[in-house]
Amino acid sequence: MPRFLAAQPDARLLPLPWQLPLAQWPAKHLVALPRGISRHVVRFIQVGGEVFAAKEVLEHAALHEYRMLTDLGRLNTPAVEPMGVVTSRTSSDGDPLDSILLTRHLQFSLPYRSLFSTGVRPETVARLIDAMAVLLARLHLVGFLWGDVSLSNILFRRDAGEFAAYLVDAETAEIHDQLSTGQRLHDLDTAMVNLFGEFSDLEAGGMLDVSLDPLTLVEQIANRYRALWRELTGIEEFSGSELARIEGRVRRLNDLGFDVAELDILTSPTGDTIRIQPKVVDAGHHSRRLLRLTGLDTEENQARRLLNDLDTYRAHTNQAHVQESVVAHQWLTHSFEPVVNAVPSDLRGKREPAQIFHEVLDYRWYQSQREHRDVPLTEAVHGYIRDVLSGLPDEALAASTTASADEGGRELLNPFDPSQGFADDDEDGFTDDPWESEAHEPGTALLPDRFDVEALRRRSAPD
Ligand SMILES: Nc1ncnc2c1ncn2[C@@H]1O[C@H](COP(=O)(O)OP(=O)(O)OP(=O)(O)O)[C@@H](O)[C@H]1O
Ligand SMILES: [Mg+2]
Repeated sequence: MPRFLAAQPDARLLPLPWQLPLAQWPAKHLVALPRGISRHVVRFIQVGGEVFAAKEVLEHAALHEYRMLTDLGRLNTPAVEPMGVVTSRTSSDGDPLDSILLTRHLQFSLPYRSLFSTGVRPETVARLIDAMAVLLARLHLVGFLWGDVSLSNILFRRDAGEFAAYLVDAETAEIHDQLSTGQRLHDLDTAMVNLFGEFSDLEAGGMLDVSLDPLTLVEQIANRYRALWRELTGIEEFSGSELARIEGRVRRLNDLGFDVAELDILTSPTGDTIRIQPKVVDAGHHSRRLLRLTGLDTEENQARRLLNDLDTYRAHTNQAHVQESVVAHQWLTHSFEPVVNAVPSDLRGKREPAQIFHEVLDYRWYQSQREHRDVPLTEAVHGYIRDVLSGLPDEALAASTTASADEGGRELLNPFDPSQGFADDDEDGFTDDPWESEAHEPGTALLPDRFDVEALRRRSAPD
């Protein structure tokens, strides 16, 4: 009899064929979705309207990973959500089978190979690197030593013009009260070794832009991580006449998407020098604010973008004197919802609502530039649906059951195990993302570089 361990047990799991090795599960329980390379057997299983990732692994490892993921959830750190562990499995002949760890499938997430297979531009790679540096720093802030940092163990979700990275594999992880510098740098070293291998693999497969070099890329991630860590935790000392630097530090952290919960300020007895150090920083500065104002739960940069649009709306409607929460409600019903509701239901699996709104804003911006006029949002959304959204591949699991089994007209060798590759295994035939092509046309202004700490320092330095 299998045993189920779960915080919120789901009775629909009980009748599944636990007596079979995961690799032999009948297709009727499975969903074909893209996923990363893994040592263990991993399958996506459909339970009612939900999809879970199931990983067959030794019992102690499954339990350990379940606990690590539960802790990460409690610490509000981006990771897949654990659902439970099934232990004490036996085959119909009574032979013992490994345990299965169940996690909720992370909606709209992209394993790096799916991202790269559609052709990724150098700027996009820089954004993926930033997202990884932020994830690693956030994990380290809460005392999480990952141990197995690699592209295969990260999932990416679109976050306005950037990406948000999620941890997917916590098998080797440990949680401590605080990490030593040695521990953190060990994680960073592992990241560099693994990522170098993965980038080299992509390069060998012709999936890495020729202008990019694996070694430079891993050095970039290390530099980004170090700069971010310094900004998040470093001591800053200055003279008593430069008090504005305290505010500058907080502002920079906010710009990076972090809130300062505790700032340690130490003044020398004479008041000549001041020393500051953030003691507790929490990620999600903008997403928390947007959630408070509108109830929308989004990624950080999506929130940043939506809040900017809310500010613009407030200015355009002359409501500077009106309470922000009141304006936010108006904006939600007059701007956000009409855009999101204009999307036909069969196209909703392509992007999350906040991402759609962000892309419509971008689309409107490009169209306004092109046509030298202010394009209204209601007009832009229809153009966006027609020119961009309808041509994009599905990213939610909706409808992709069949779509991903047959990516861009190519058949997977095994639709439930995309890591086995395509039946006609050659590397071309990848779908292009028309949105990416447009956004990166020559002469198009790039979005500001969010995680360039040096640039932020320059911008927020007191005059
Ligand atoms: N909850 C989830 N949502 C979406 N994708 C998932 C989820 N869980 C696993 N995956 C996909 O399955 C892949 C393999 O999972 P995972 O890394 O946990 O397996 P593993 O065998 O432990 O890997 P490793 O070889 O690194 O030990 C991931 O790269 C990811 O693409
Ligand atoms: Mg893995």
